[in-house]
Amino acid sequence: MAPDGLHGRFQLAKDIAQEASAFLLSHESMRLSTRTKAENDYVTEADGTVERMIREAISKAFPSDSVYGEEFGGETGSRRRWIIDPIDGTVNFMASFPDYTVSIAYEDEEGLAFGVVAVPRQHEVFCAFRGEGAFLNDSPIHTDESEDTSRTLALLVPPHRHHEMLDGYIVRMRRFYEIISDVRSIGSAALSLCYVACGRASMYYETALHIYDCAAGIVIVREAGGMVTLLSDDEDWMDIAASSAAAHRKMLETIDG
Ligand code: IPD
Ligand code: CA
Ligand code: CA
Repeated sequence: MAPDGLHGRFQLAKDIAQEASAFLLSHESMRLSTRTKAENDYVTEADGTVERMIREAISKAFPSDSVYGEEFGGETGSRRRWIIDPIDGTVNFMASFPDYTVSIAYEDEEGLAFGVVAVPRQHEVFCAFRGEGAFLNDSPIHTDESEDTSRTLALLVPPHRHHEMLDGYIVRMRRFYEIISDVRSIGSAALSLCYVACGRASMYYETALHIYDCAAGIVIVREAGGMVTLLSDDEDWMDIAASSAAAHRKMLETIDG
């Protein structure tokens, strides 16, 4: 694909993310219309509506592109596809917590090409294009590369849908307290990755994610200078460790024990 084709898609992703953000801000009442997808896994009327909006915009501009999205599925095997999560942080959206996002990524034969994560309530848009750096509202962002992580935050998310894994997780969480100041769990994988990318946190560790939860955020962390290790990279079960480059080894050792 010509570079312009990819950049055109990147611009479209940023435009759509802004439109989806504006839509969500003006339709927050949709949070009250919900159904249960699986145990401890919910969806609101807005999730489907926003995914439809994104798909329509993509197919209008690039009719033959493949799309894989959380709500309506699609291309799992293709190496050239859009990967979208219309609302990452649905439980936050339902609870009227501000930390929900719209996440849009594109993947080609060389891997993840770009990612855009919009945070409607904060009026923030994170984005990155492969080889061109990462940005927050058009300003370059970088991971916090201080060697000393003892004053930094780690974003740790217990396996809330796999309670049988909680004990092991808590043992690992305890080890994290040896190397960081405190932990947070902010309820959006995409946003957690962006917070590592811009240095608000130095580490993020979560298990059992899907590709649409983290595709956009992974590009953003890597382009901001950080590192991402997929401890398990099945598209439907991704265990992810993301951090500044300086802290990555220490983080992996902390997970391994
Ligand atoms: C969820 C969020 C959350 C993570 C869950 C994901 P959703 O995505 O990323 O932070 O802990 O595992 O499923 O359901 O809000 O799109
Ligand atoms: Ca998600
Ligand atoms: Ca979602």
